[in-house]
Amino acid sequence: MTAERVTKILIVFYSRYGNTVKMAEEIAYGAKSLPGVQVTMKRIADDVPIEVVSQNPDWSKVVEDMNDRWPTTPIEDVVKELPLHDAIIFGSPTRFGNMAAPMKAMWDRTGRLWMDGTS
Ligand SMILES: Cc1cc2nc3c(=O)[nH]c(=O)nc-3n(C[C@H](O)[C@H](O)[C@H](O)COP(=O)(O)O)c2cc1C
Repeated sequence: MTAERVTKILIVFYSRYGNTVKMAEEIAYGAKSLPGVQVTMKRIADDVPIEVVSQNPDWSKVVEDMNDRWPTTPIEDVVKELPLHDAIIFGSPTRFGNMAAPMKAMWDRTGRLWMDGTS
């Protein structure tokens, strides 16, 4: 008897206003419906101080909701997870045609994986 193959999918996402969270959740929902698929979600923290967020009630509510559902993971712990999965899906809002800074900061911490040729 052969052991059942499990495909491990990691979803790494960052969101400021909740849109990317919704997409990450929908992707996770779809992926989990497939047989033999295990999904792990890792949320990267924002770089905006909570004092700024708390000045806007609507934004505060979105952030509280995100924090309840998806507590953030330190970037260095997210990086450690990357080689442990078969597939990785990254989710970031577009900012001036690029990924958002917190997601870029995560990529900038992958130098060791790059130098080691970790795939
Ligand atoms: C500073 C800033 C720059 C942005 N630049 C772009 C952009 O270049 N292209 C684009 O399509 N959307 C841009 N957006 C819109 C965001 O990508 C969009 O609102 C996204 O859904 C936000 O995701 P979030 O709700 O997960 O934070 C920008 C938003 C901000 C605040």
